[in-house]
Amino acid sequence: MTTASAPGKVILFGEHAVVYGQPALAAPVTQVQATATLTPLPPSPTGRGGRSEGIWIDARDVGRHYRLEDASSDDPLAAAIRLTFAHFNLPITDDSLRMTLESTIPIASGLGSGAAVCTALVRALANYLNHPLTNAEVSSIVFETEKLLHGTPSGIDNTVIAYGQPVYFVKGQSPIPFNVAHPFQLLIADTGLPSPTKITVGDVRAAREKEPERYEQMFRAIGDIAREARTLIEIGQTPGARFAETLGALMSCNHALLQQLGVSCPELDILAECARAAGAAGAKLSGGGRGGNMLALVTPETESAVRAALEMAGAKRVIGTVVGE
Ligand code: PMV
Repeated sequence: MTTASAPGKVILFGEHAVVYGQPALAAPVTQVQATATLTPLPPSPTGRGGRSEGIWIDARDVGRHYRLEDASSDDPLAAAIRLTFAHFNLPITDDSLRMTLESTIPIASGLGSGAAVCTALVRALANYLNHPLTNAEVSSIVFETEKLLHGTPSGIDNTVIAYGQPVYFVKGQSPIPFNVAHPFQLLIADTGLPSPTKITVGDVRAAREKEPERYEQMFRAIGDIAREARTLIEIGQTPGARFAETLGALMSCNHALLQQLGVSCPELDILAECARAAGAAGAKLSGGGRGGNMLALVTPETESAVRAALEMAGAKRVIGTVVGE
């Protein structure tokens, strides 16, 4: 049996603008995980080529159990398997194998569930084949599967999940892991509304085509926030101001720009407002938007009041994480 896991992720700053070349910051969330387990199956009683032979994909969270050879070419899990064999120039094995995928990462909620499941699968398969992969290789294989899910992904999800550390990311460039001078605490609150990233990314693209100048200006403003946040997080302080206040203000500005891009929704706005009112230093949506999750920046002093406020305001799940721990 071979097992591999991958974390979820949050985008701290820069979603959507990152698709158009602006920088973004993202961090892994190890409190949620995807796991792939590869189990060799006993030979079929009917001999080689029987119906139980071959590779079986058992995607438990979505209730799907199917053979690799029956999967369509746009199935991301099947693509992850085929691409991994192709990466090593190996034919798809004749071994009978069950590949079981399990995940505690909510689906279509901006926490990178698709990329995490594929990352775990690619790693487990590479280990099974005795060809461990570098983070960069895993990331580039998973990027191909992300294209099937999202159309035109920037590559940030596969990067932060495959590297498993906070990254400063610019599309098409090698990711830069960043240091976190003082670890900071986030609450991640789920609206419970699934929101496929492909749709919000497509809507932003269509809106930008109508008003290119206005959208480019907003993307640049988001990029400036991401750069400023990177410096602040790496240095850990700003002269004359407290770290959390400054970082929180940047998060709230980023949220306002995402609202203007048209990717927020009343549920996200309510959670962000309630978090701030209960003492969060800042709050923003994270990921594709129009549902999924939002982030609130808290301290040990404000955490429990903000958590309670988020739950009262309708959050379906609240996860605590520390960036840079
Ligand atoms: O997969 P999500 O929902 O976390 O969103 C990814 C971030 C976007 O910038 C909206 C899209 C992308 O490809 O970068």
